Amino acid sequence: MLTLHSPAKINLFLKIVKKRPDGYHELASLMQTISLFDTLRIRLAPQDRFTCSDPYLPTDSTNLVIAALHKIRKAHSQDFHVHIHLEKQIPVQAGLGGGSGDAATALWGINQLLGQPFSIEQLQSIGSTLGSDVPFFLSEGTAHCRGRGEILQPISPLQSQEVWIVKPLEGLSTPHVYSALEIDQLPPRDPEESLKKVELGEPEYYNDLEEAAFRLLPRLREIKETLLAAGFKTVLLCGSGTAFFCLGDVTPPHIVGTAAIKVKFINRSANRWYE
Ligand code: C5P
Repeated sequence: MLTLHSPAKINLFLKIVKKRPDGYHELASLMQTISLFDTLRIRLAPQDRFTCSDPYLPTDSTNLVIAALHKIRKAHSQDFHVHIHLEKQIPVQAGLGGGSGDAATALWGINQLLGQPFSIEQLQSIGSTLGSDVPFFLSEGTAHCRGRGEILQPISPLQSQEVWIVKPLEGLSTPHVYSALEIDQLPPRDPEESLKKVELGEPEYYNDLEEAAFRLLPRLREIKETLLAAGFKTVLLCGSGTAFFCLGDVTPPHIVGTAAIKVKFINRSANRWYE
């Protein structure tokens, strides 16, 4: 039996380049895994069984873990079955990539149990059919992601720092936020320049999805302002929201209807999963 931590992610910068004819958006984003984890327990078994600590999550193939199992089984030459238990800790509709991370962790774990028939690149290719962020979660934890998110340039681990994640009770669905985007209104930014600044140790943080999320849920703007007024240097929406990540040597104030957790950047080594 394998017990695997499945991390959340944040987007240190996220530039929307354009809307594509297939309906997806071309983006450039520096993504980083953080020490907020779901846990998957996986073992080979005579038949499939999937259980989840969160009774509100679907346990059919609309759950990305089950979709991942179906995809890797189809790609594998021999039939197999697994028991998977998913212990949820990462909030949903938060922009933290919890579901995508669970799918990536399931792919990695099943591949281990099968004796590693697939390379990481093959797992990433299977993952990209499950969701745009899934390949990132098969990286080593820091990557510049382009295309719809599935084209990865690995980046050396960044200096670890403490981060507060602040999550309002309300959630937002990713397609809903993308459909509220006003691409013509986005500030001009060069993600290649942003990447150079990261390498120079002078990172800049921005998220082109933030204004769209604020339009859908105006309370998010108030929460951001409250956190900045508390002394954080950076407060930025995670992906399509609704969680924020906050940088600075401050403890977040109590904000009604939010939960806060302190995490740090984490990376995995090449042949191991997250610990
Ligand atoms: O790839 P994934 O299934 O996670 O995407 C969910 C939805 O988010 C897509 O159906 C699309 O509406 C939106 N999306 C997008 N551009 C991206 C990634 C996601 O428009 N690069």
